[in-house]
Amino acid sequence: MDDGLDLMGAREMADPSVLAQRLLSGDRCRLYEGFDPPFYIVSRYQDVNDVLLDPARFISGLGQGPNFIPPVGVVSDPPAHTFFRRLVQDDLKPGSIAKLRPRLEAIARELLDAVEDRDVWDVHDDLAFPLPVIIICEIFGIPTDDIHQFKLWSDASVAALSAQDPSAYESELLRMRGYILDLLRAKRGRMDDHSLLARIARARRDGIDISDEEAVGLTLQLFVAGNETTTSLITNFMWRMLSGDNLWADFRAGAIDLHKAINESLRFDPPLLGLFRTTACDVEIAGTRIPANTKVLTHYGAANRDPAVFERPDVFDVHRPIRKILSFGLGIHFCLGAELAKLEAQVTLSALRDRFPRLELVDDGERIGPFLFWGRRKLPIRHAGLGSIGQ
Ligand code: HEM
Repeated sequence: MDDGLDLMGAREMADPSVLAQRLLSGDRCRLYEGFDPPFYIVSRYQDVNDVLLDPARFISGLGQGPNFIPPVGVVSDPPAHTFFRRLVQDDLKPGSIAKLRPRLEAIARELLDAVEDRDVWDVHDDLAFPLPVIIICEIFGIPTDDIHQFKLWSDASVAALSAQDPSAYESELLRMRGYILDLLRAKRGRMDDHSLLARIARARRDGIDISDEEAVGLTLQLFVAGNETTTSLITNFMWRMLSGDNLWADFRAGAIDLHKAINESLRFDPPLLGLFRTTACDVEIAGTRIPANTKVLTHYGAANRDPAVFERPDVFDVHRPIRKILSFGLGIHFCLGAELAKLEAQVTLSALRDRFPRLELVDDGERIGPFLFWGRRKLPIRHAGLGSIGQ
């Protein structure tokens, strides 16, 4: 069916509700031919749940994007997936993450110190981008000197995930792999180093060292998965709070429960609008037959606005009771960094509110590029009452 749906159209890219409404008012499972190779899209809450909870028929090992790529690290299927997930999950479990709070508070403080005297600064560049990168470097046990270089590489990875022609990013990605491989090699012989990167470097599976390719792939997945998305959570949240009626004032006055508000931000503005599975055999969804070896997009952005589950789904309601949202995925691939991401957002947003209660947007900034992602790569802001004078 070609009804003119364009996942990369200007209106769809500017506002996720446009695409969500189109998808939710159409067929439950639809073919999208605006990409090569074409893929199917599921958008209802229940259908997305069903696909994600059926990893035998809807596999991950051929990539989370629309292109077919070989399995690596956690983007794989059991038993390899189980091994790689176990290797890293201890560092990301709630108990380990809770211990990071004081360090996160200190990073947020330092970043806010640096903008204190500037009347206009950028929520993305000055706060939401560096904070998750610094903390993930510290979790890995690698220096934070190169975070701007990491950002360029991370952007290239994210762009390659949703690109029609991923080879355009190959040289950048090769440089990134080379850099990570050097770090892994440097850690490999240091038995007294218990950092996450050292453990990945020395990991053995069934008695055999994991390959360089596997170690690099896994490291990059954690690195990229944890940065762009958390950055977008923070920028999306600030954008809505500062553009919605009185929301920032209510937040400042303590009338908003941050935990609920972050959940609503993730529902309304998921940093990842959806990810792909590949059919392992012929399957049928809502009467539509999908052949084996076909890509299927599970659209979290639409599922999170399914009126069968969420009342008034297109209203950003920070007081909405918490219900299970799909922004962190579901099932065996459920996000390993969900606790960390939520803590990073809580610490950053509380620090911002306490330090600079009077803030206003300069403008709406810019959307990040790739169509599967949703966040602001620019969000200029000013201290209200300073920069606004005479501008
Ligand atoms: C708001 C921030 C975040 C969002 C929206 C997000 C979203 C997601 C989603 C949707 C998945 C499921 C992938 C799939 O089903 O194929 C996922 C998996 C994953 N996430 Fe996150 N993520 C966030 C933050 C983080 C952070 C901070 C880290 C780690 C430092 C992280 C690490 C991972 C890993 C390792 C996986 C793969 C798990 C597996 O396949 O078993 N994420 N994330």
